[in-house]
Amino acid sequence: MELKRMSICLALFVLACISHCSEARHSLVRRGADEVNYDELQNDEGADDEAQNDAEGNDEEDTAVVAKIVTQSALYNVTIGRTVRLECLVSPATASVVVQWTRNNTKYFIGTQKDYEQDLASYSVGDRFSIAANSTDLLIREVRPSDSGIYTCGILQFKPVHIQHHLVVVESPRILMFTATNNGQLVEGSDLVLTCKVSGSPPPKIVWSRGEGNVNKRLQENDATYLGNTLTIKNVRRSHSGSYYCYAFNGVGTNQSEVHVVVRGKPRVHVERTVVNSAIGVEAILECAVHDDAASYIRWYKDGQRIEDSSRAYSISSDGQRSNLSVIPRHDDDFGTFTCEAENEQGSHNRSIDLVQSPVLEDLQVDGPKISLTIHSHQPVEVIELQLKELDGDAEWKTLNVPVPQSRNTHEYQVDYSLEDHLSNGGKYEVTVKVKNDKSWSAHTNPAVIEYELRPQPIQHASVLPGGSAHSLESTPIFLATALMYLLVRM
Ligand SMILES: *[C@@H]1O[C@H](CO)[C@@H](O)[C@H](O)[C@H]1NC(C)=O
Ligand SMILES: *[C@@H]1O[C@H](CO)[C@@H](O)[C@H](O)[C@H]1NC(C)=O
Ligand SMILES: *[C@@H]1O[C@H](CO)[C@@H](O)[C@H](O)[C@H]1NC(C)=O
Ligand SMILES: *[C@@H]1O[C@H](CO)[C@@H](O)[C@H](O)[C@H]1NC(C)=O
Ligand SMILES: *[C@@H]1O[C@H](CO)[C@@H](O)[C@H](O)[C@H]1NC(C)=O
Ligand SMILES: *[C@@H]1O[C@H](CO)[C@@H](O)[C@H](O)[C@H]1NC(C)=O
Repeated sequence: MELKRMSICLALFVLACISHCSEARHSLVRRGADEVNYDELQNDEGADDEAQNDAEGNDEEDTAVVAKIVTQSALYNVTIGRTVRLECLVSPATASVVVQWTRNNTKYFIGTQKDYEQDLASYSVGDRFSIAANSTDLLIREVRPSDSGIYTCGILQFKPVHIQHHLVVVESPRILMFTATNNGQLVEGSDLVLTCKVSGSPPPKIVWSRGEGNVNKRLQENDATYLGNTLTIKNVRRSHSGSYYCYAFNGVGTNQSEVHVVVRGKPRVHVERTVVNSAIGVEAILECAVHDDAASYIRWYKDGQRIEDSSRAYSISSDGQRSNLSVIPRHDDDFGTFTCEAENEQGSHNRSIDLVQSPVLEDLQVDGPKISLTIHSHQPVEVIELQLKELDGDAEWKTLNVPVPQSRNTHEYQVDYSLEDHLSNGGKYEVTVKVKNDKSWSAHTNPAVIEYELRPQPIQHASVLPGGSAHSLESTPIFLATALMYLLVRM
């Protein structure tokens, strides 16, 4: 019985093809292969009814039945992994209707026959594709992105008709993998490569960003080089440390992932003052600060010789990345060069501080013709020598002795001195100072430049003042003073 049914089906199918496939091909060409001609479907309605009547009146062998497709063409958005049923409802749903499903113009699915008398005649094509029971609908289980495309349901008959469904298999982006070079543990100067593998349908686009404080900043064109799903930053610096994000989006959804990157480099040693004055028996504190993400090892040297922590001549106090070396010199040769060195796995760095008995000068401050200077000297200051030279031409250095002020405390002198009397012409002058205490001379300060304009004489102000009636009482004394000066100068 089963065999018989199958052979009848096959026979019908072949018959249908022989008698109508060539017809169908002709009409398809005539119509333009992929278009559904709904007008024609409408016009065919009357004919369909007749055909239906015919079909009802005749037996299965009658291939003249005219059927139409009731279902409209549609867009199916389906999430990956789901089952989709592409509808193709045929009317009249009667015997001998041969329906053929194709994908992307390729005859991929074998047709099906509807035959109510003979129960169902559906069978599967491949393991995920099948014709739904008792229907002409196409079932696709566990859809994949590659299933996306155009599916055509057509009736093979004298006047072939077909509809087209668009199947779009969508999937929210998934981040399969997001990695950084060496798990994000980098050494300064090396290259950072971030790889972000994503899946999704449509294929997601990627945006890269870096967390800076509380903000997430999108990485720009010149921050890195981008190639496919990788980002490369060459020659990383410590400032490249932080959280990096891979953000994937495709219109269906978004997803993001984070990796943490730490760039380690050599420590950086910083000293507040590079020369420190002290005297025999006076404690000097040499301060050193280390910049590093992790703790580095800090050591001190005196004239290149390592100072052991156990040394009784010095005391070292450390607080995290800071270290103070306290020195109380007992002899002249306890002065010298002290070096603070920090070391981590990436290397070491050092800075030196000279401990001296000579005066230590801060930078010269200039304000118009006035200079000011702070001198550090635990020993009494004896001479403050200032040198002055016009900047233009080949002027000679002029040496002046500045009076030594009272020391503010035991070791600091504040010098404020006006050079007005020495700047005979206006213009630019270069000035430098050195100081001697009872031990030795300091170095020269860095030269400072004085720009001095001869002050406009008050007399000119006075001469342009108007008659006085417009002036308030408060301005009268000033007016009187200027008028007096005017008279004095004129006399
Ligand atoms: C189907 O998905 C696309 C994006 O892939 C979207 O643009 C469109 O609006 C969706 N259509 C429907 C009917 O959901
Ligand atoms: C198909 O139709 C037959 C009778 O016409 C019915 O017995 C059967 O349950 C139907 N199958 C499904 C899956 O609807
Ligand atoms: C069908 O065509 C669409 C474009 O129209 C394409 O994206 C898809 O990959 C094709 N599918 C197959 C199975 O060839
Ligand atoms: C993001 O991706 C992960 C896998 O990488 C997935 O488990 C998760 O569901 C995705 N989130 C969203 C909102 O799609
Ligand atoms: C300080 O660093 C320099 C190189 O930068 C090195 O030559 C010198 O030996 C170091 N000094 C000490 C005391 O470590
Ligand atoms: C170093 O000395 C300075 C000034 O005396 C002080 O403020 C600082 O706390 C000291 N630091 C350490 C680590 O002892």
